[in-house]
Amino acid sequence: GLPARVRIHEVGPRDGLQNEKSTVPTEVKADFIRRLAGAGLTTVEATSFVHPKWVPQLADAEKLFPLVSGLAGVRLPVLVPNDRGLDRALGLGAREVAVFASATESFARANLNRTVDEALAMFEPVVTRAVEHGLRVRGYLSMCFGDPWEGPVPVEQVVRVTRRLADLGCDELSLGDTIGVATPGHVAALLTALNEAGVPSDRLAVHFHDTYGQALANTLAALQHGVSVVDASAGGLGGCPYAKSATGNLATEDLVWMLHGLGVETGVDLGRLTATSVWMAEQLGRPSPSRTVRALSHK
Ligand code: HMG
Ligand code: MG
Repeated sequence: GLPARVRIHEVGPRDGLQNEKSTVPTEVKADFIRRLAGAGLTTVEATSFVHPKWVPQLADAEKLFPLVSGLAGVRLPVLVPNDRGLDRALGLGAREVAVFASATESFARANLNRTVDEALAMFEPVVTRAVEHGLRVRGYLSMCFGDPWEGPVPVEQVVRVTRRLADLGCDELSLGDTIGVATPGHVAALLTALNEAGVPSDRLAVHFHDTYGQALANTLAALQHGVSVVDASAGGLGGCPYAKSATGNLATEDLVWMLHGLGVETGVDLGRLTATSVWMAEQLGRPSPSRTVRALSHK
């Protein structure tokens, strides 16, 4: 069966914008986050406290976070790769953080300048300290299905790294299809293997990029396997600067359209969300790639 309700983990302001070439003004980002919260999204990933040279678009995290941290009723997770990132996040009163590991060596190197083991060793004290501060901690795992340098990623390899990330003490683990190559059978196989390895679906989220148009089908497969937290990006913005051929995330509007059609609650007002993505597309100077945004805004 399907869950009665899905919590959408909105990643537009972070994953959606991190790859954007032109610098988006901090005030526009803040407005984007406010509008997303106003549309009923209860988790909005706000920014990253990473090295500003690695992701220049998010170099304004110190300016942005205080503009939105007072928003009521919305969780604002931020990415932190290391102790320095956690210090910055704690200094601004962040209540929720995410570390981001890789199932493959190639992407660990490209994204974190570390081996898989070195990256996990870097996260260990970060997760421990975050938990001590009472923060909620998410652990991302990238390249769970395919890797642009290594090709298909074996399920056992993903299970192994997921287990280690889980053992660090992350509350929630988000399985990333960074380059959008997964198909529903592969999703089902991975979730089954994870459940068998002692990682239950109620600890998991799914994070699909829509490169091959499979993100919704993959999401449905995950829901059928007990997952009820789904990552998505308003308007389908996004891509990872350190992964070749990564396009936008699953569009939040496409996800909401499917879920509401299935009778699954999200708490999201689709009209307000679509208006937000149309507004953001104007800021960025190009139309949203989301089919639902296009359908609902061309009437
Ligand atoms: P490094 O070059 O190995 O850094 O990068 P380092 O540890 O050697 O430190 C070098 C210098 O950077 C030091 O300064 C540090 O203080 C400074 P110095 O002493 O030389 O003056 N530094 C920092 N400054 C500010 N904030 C920090 C920070 N850390 C170090 N946090 C590092 C290692 C992890 C920092 C770098 O690789 C990095 O920032 N990577 C982030 C890449 C990134 O953000 N990628 C996108 C997010 S992941 C993603 O999109 C996938 C996801 O969506 C899921 C999916 O789709 O699969 C989550
Ligand atoms: Mg991503």
